[in-house]
Amino acid sequence: MDLDLTGRRALVTGSSSGIGAGIAAELAAEGALVVVHGRNAERANAVAAKIVAAGGQAAVAIGDLSTNEGAAGVAEQALAAFGGIDILVNNAGGSFDTPDPSFFSVTPENLVATYEANTVAAFRLIQALAPAMKERGWGRVINIATAAAITPTSAQPDYGPAKAAMVNLSLGLSKTLRMTGVTVNCVSPGMIRTEGLMEFLGNFAQKRGWGDDIPKAEEYFVKGTGQTVGRVGEVTDIAYAVVMLASPRADIINGTNFHVDAGISPAIN
Ligand SMILES: NC(=O)c1ccc[n+]([C@@H]2O[C@H](COP(=O)([O-])OP(=O)(O)OC[C@H]3O[C@@H](n4cnc5c(N)ncnc54)[C@H](OP(=O)(O)O)[C@@H]3O)[C@@H](O)[C@H]2O)c1
Repeated sequence: MDLDLTGRRALVTGSSSGIGAGIAAELAAEGALVVVHGRNAERANAVAAKIVAAGGQAAVAIGDLSTNEGAAGVAEQALAAFGGIDILVNNAGGSFDTPDPSFFSVTPENLVATYEANTVAAFRLIQALAPAMKERGWGRVINIATAAAITPTSAQPDYGPAKAAMVNLSLGLSKTLRMTGVTVNCVSPGMIRTEGLMEFLGNFAQKRGWGDDIPKAEEYFVKGTGQTVGRVGEVTDIAYAVVMLASPRADIINGTNFHVDAGISPAIN
């Protein structure tokens, strides 16, 4: 199937590593012109260079999305790279500055910081880039949330609620942009094999006295999270979902929260 992404201009925030880097690579492989973003210029440049080496087109935008100024700078660089942005993937984020994620250890400041770097970061770029998509009559906003947005865990009270707000905001935006050709959807990953996850599982295995047995830690979480698919997700699992939603083939998919989580969040709607 031709996904008709050739020449479409995409900004993937937080693509200097992990899931974002995978999304950037797959969009570029489908012919999109991709702006790779992160705070770490070295890593962002390396991701862009890899895309170019594989025959794709990529540019780089650097900046911290947790401030208005930083986000404005990123939007400016992204617009300048290819003359506009048609596809915005708000992937940057995670859970920050929360060394102990247990409910009563997370501080109000942690909560605000996580909200800034996830929800508000996405909001800033949506305000900067979506109006021009509307004017052109076509566009995509794809927000990366998490399974924990609708299936909260007992910890990380900063993270799940911030991502839940992102899901809510996305549905509201899809209504704001009704009949414009711009769709807005979320992708909610479960456990995805990134460096961060591997580090977490490594530490967990050590604490449990399992030494370096990361597969054992993986199995523990696959079972414990109630997954109905027996493996951890790969970065490409998320990237394929995003590429599909980004395509004009997905023109009538709007206002959804797409669970790509190995069955952590079973839902009938
Ligand atoms: N991995 C999982 O299992 C999993 C599961 C569910 C949801 N998610 C979500 O998927 C997304 C990507 O996660 P990941 O695991 O791939 O994380 P990652 O490897 O840590 O990558 C995070 C990316 O976000 C960027 N970033 C973080 N804070 C930023 C800020 N304030 N301003 C600008 N850029 C910022 C980082 O840039 P620099 O490093 O260059 O600063 C990096 O490129 C996140 O939104 C996360 O919540 C991940």
